[in-house]
Amino acid sequence: MPQTKTAQTKTPAASPLAAPRRRAAPIRALILGGTSEARALAARIAGDARVHATVSLAGRTSAPLAQSLPTRIGGFGGVEGLKRYLEEERVDRVIDATHPFAARISANAREACAALGLPLLVLTRAPWSRMEGDRWIEAANNAGAVAALGEAPRRVFLTIGRLGLADFLGAPQHYYLIRTIERPSENDLPPRNGLILERGPFTVESELSLMREAGIDMIVSKNSGGRDTYAKIEAARTLGLEVVMITPPGGGGARVVHDVETAAAFLFFEEP
Ligand SMILES: NC(=O)c1ccc[n+]([C@@H]2O[C@H](COP(=O)([O-])OP(=O)(O)OC[C@H]3O[C@@H](n4cnc5c(N)ncnc54)[C@H](OP(=O)(O)O)[C@@H]3O)[C@@H](O)[C@H]2O)c1
Repeated sequence: MPQTKTAQTKTPAASPLAAPRRRAAPIRALILGGTSEARALAARIAGDARVHATVSLAGRTSAPLAQSLPTRIGGFGGVEGLKRYLEEERVDRVIDATHPFAARISANAREACAALGLPLLVLTRAPWSRMEGDRWIEAANNAGAVAALGEAPRRVFLTIGRLGLADFLGAPQHYYLIRTIERPSENDLPPRNGLILERGPFTVESELSLMREAGIDMIVSKNSGGRDTYAKIEAARTLGLEVVMITPPGGGGARVVHDVETAAAFLFFEEP
C-alpha cells in the first residue's frame, strides 16, 4: 500500500519564475521520481504556494533519500491504477522525472495522461556522448551487452544496477565486479563475482584505483547520463578500456527537458 510521508517545507528562492499567479487554486502535480533530478525539482518547488505537488517513488530502495515534498511509495497498479490515482487526486499536470531506463512507468504515464488529457513533461538527463578516446561498444539492451563481452573470459565492471543482473548468468566465463545500491538477489549473481554496495557520486580517482586493483578490462554501463556516475566512463577513457554502453529505451514522443527550471516553469505557468 502506498505510504504518505510528511512534507518538509522550505522557503522558496527568489527567481524570475516567481511571477504573480493567474490561478486561484494551486496547480496539483504528480512528480514520478526515484532520481536526483526529481529530488532537485522537489527542492526547487517545495514551499511554493502556486503548486501542490507529490513525489511518487516505486519503493525499490529500502532507505530512499529524503524528498522536500510529500511522498507516496509503491506502484499504482498499471495504467488503470495510475489513471485512477490521477483522477482521485485531481492532478492537473504530471512530470515524469524517472530514470531514463524506467521504461514501464514512463509508458504508463504517457498512456494515462493521454487518456485523461493531462499535460505531461519528461524531466531527464541528457545521455552521455562519446568523446575522443572513448572505446564504446553500443548495445540496445542487456542481451546485446552480454553478446558484446564475447566468448573469452574477461574481468568486467558491471554497473547496470541490481535488476537485470540475471541476464549475465548466461555468460559465466567472465568475472564480474558488480556495484549496486541495494544487495541483489543471490540467484541473480554470476558464479565469479565481487560485490560492492555503494551509492554514487564517485570520483575519477576512486574509480581508477577500483578498476586497477580489480584488474578490470571491460565495463558494462547504462547510458544514464548525469554527473553522479560519469567518473567510471572518464576512468575507462584514461585506462583505454572498452565500455559496453547500453542505450536508453527512448521517450516515446513526450516533451523532454533536461533542466529543473524548465520543469518548474511547466508547473508554475498557466499554459504549459
Ligand atoms: N531502471 C533503472 O536503471 C533505474 C535507476 C535508478 C533509479 N530508478 C528508479 O527506480 C524506479 C523503478 O525503476 P524501474 O526501472 O524498475 O521502473 P519500471 O520498470 O519503468 O516500472 C515498473 C513498475 O514499477 C512501478 N514504478 C516505477 N517507478 C515508479 C514511481 N516513480 N512511482 C510509482 N511506481 C513506480 C510501476 O508499477 P505500477 O505499474 O504498479 O504502477 C511500474 O509499472 C523508478 O522510479 C526509477 O526512477 C531506476
